[in-house]
Amino acid sequence: MTREPILQPPDDAGTSDGDDDRALRPRRMQEMVGQREVYERIEIAVDAAGKRGEPLGHILFDGPPGLGKTTFATCIPRDLGVSCQIASGAALKAPKDIVPYLTNAEEGSVLFIDEIHRMQKAVEEFMYPAMEDFSIDFTLDKGAFAKPINFALKRFCLVGATTRAGLLTNPLRERFGIFHHLDFYPPDEISEILIRSAKVLIIEADEDALVEIAKSSRGTPRIANRLLKRVRDYAQTLGDGRIDMDCAVKALAMEGIDSEGLDSLDRKYLTTLIRHYGGGPAGVEAIAASLNEERDTLVDMVEPYLLKIGFISRTSKGRKANRPSYVHLGLEFEPEEAQKKLFGT
Ligand SMILES: Nc1ncnc2c1ncn2[C@@H]1O[C@H](COP(=O)(O)OP(=O)(O)O)[C@@H](O)[C@H]1O
Ligand SMILES: [Mg+2]
Repeated sequence: MTREPILQPPDDAGTSDGDDDRALRPRRMQEMVGQREVYERIEIAVDAAGKRGEPLGHILFDGPPGLGKTTFATCIPRDLGVSCQIASGAALKAPKDIVPYLTNAEEGSVLFIDEIHRMQKAVEEFMYPAMEDFSIDFTLDKGAFAKPINFALKRFCLVGATTRAGLLTNPLRERFGIFHHLDFYPPDEISEILIRSAKVLIIEADEDALVEIAKSSRGTPRIANRLLKRVRDYAQTLGDGRIDMDCAVKALAMEGIDSEGLDSLDRKYLTTLIRHYGGGPAGVEAIAASLNEERDTLVDMVEPYLLKIGFISRTSKGRKANRPSYVHLGLEFEPEEAQKKLFGT
C-alpha cells in the first residue's frame, strides 16, 4: 500500500484536494496556529530589518512533511508586503536554472526554494556569493570569446524549506541567519487547526469529535486536514452531514487509523522490523525492500513520528523497535530472543 503523497508542489497544483487545500492554508503568519516561537523570531527579524532599512536575513525551515514549512514561506512575503518567487530544489540542476530567479528578484523580495536539499551541488556553490554578497559570477560565450561577468543582484531574502537539513552542506546552512526546525504539534494545537478548518470548509462538527480526529493526526496539520475531509465524506454519506463522535470513530477506523494515530503503513513498518528483523537493528534500505516501499517515503513520512513517540530508535547499526511498538501490536517484547531464533547467534 502506498501512502497518499504528502510532499506537494509549493503552489499546491495537482494535489487531490486542490482547492480545499489552498483554502485551508493560512495566508498570514497571524492566522497560523502554534509555532509561536518561530513566529516571534521572524517578527523580531522583520522589525529589526525594517528599522535598519535592510532586507530580511535568509531563513531555513526544516522538519517532516505537512508541518507548515510552505505555509510559513508563503506567509512571510505577504506579511512583508513584498513579491515572492517560488522554485523547487529538484528542478535546479545547473546554475543556469537559478539565474533567472536571482536576476528577477526585486529589492527586499522573497525567493522561496522548496526541497532545497535536492538542489545540485553546482547550484548550491553558485548560491554562496548570491546569498552573501548579492552578486553572481558567470561566463558569457565559450572558448576564446569567453567573458567573465560579475552581476550585482538586488538584496533578496532566500527562504529555504527541507525535510532533510542534514543533507545540506555546512557552507549553505551557515548562510541562513535563521534556521528553524518545525516539530510535531501538540494535540490541542491540532484541535485548534481542525476547528479553524471546519469553519473554513463550513463543516458542522462536535468539538469532542474534532479532538478525536486530532489525536489520530500524528501531530501533523496536513494529516489532520485530510482526515477531517474523510470524516466529513463519511458523515455526508452515512449520516446527516454533522460530524459527531460516533461518526469520527467509525470513519477513522475505516481509514485504518488506530488508537495511536498510526495507519497501515506505520503498522506494516513496525511488524516488518519486528517479524523479519527480530526488532532490529535493521537498515532502512532493508526494511524498505521488504515492504516494497521507497526508502525516502519511510525516512520522510513514517520514521519521524515513530521516533518522536519512542516506538523506534535510530542506532549506528540501523533502526530498532522499542517496547511500546511490541505492546501496541500485541506482541511479546523479547527482541534478543527473537534475534537468536532468527539468526541462531
Ligand atoms: N501552523 C499552522 N496553522 C494552521 N494550518 C497549518 C499550519 N501549518 C500547516 N497547516 C496546514 O497544513 C497544510 C500543510 O502545510 P505545509 O506548509 O504545506 O507543510 P510542509 O510545507 O511543511 O510540508 C497547509 O496547507 C495548512 O492547511
Ligand atoms: Mg511544503
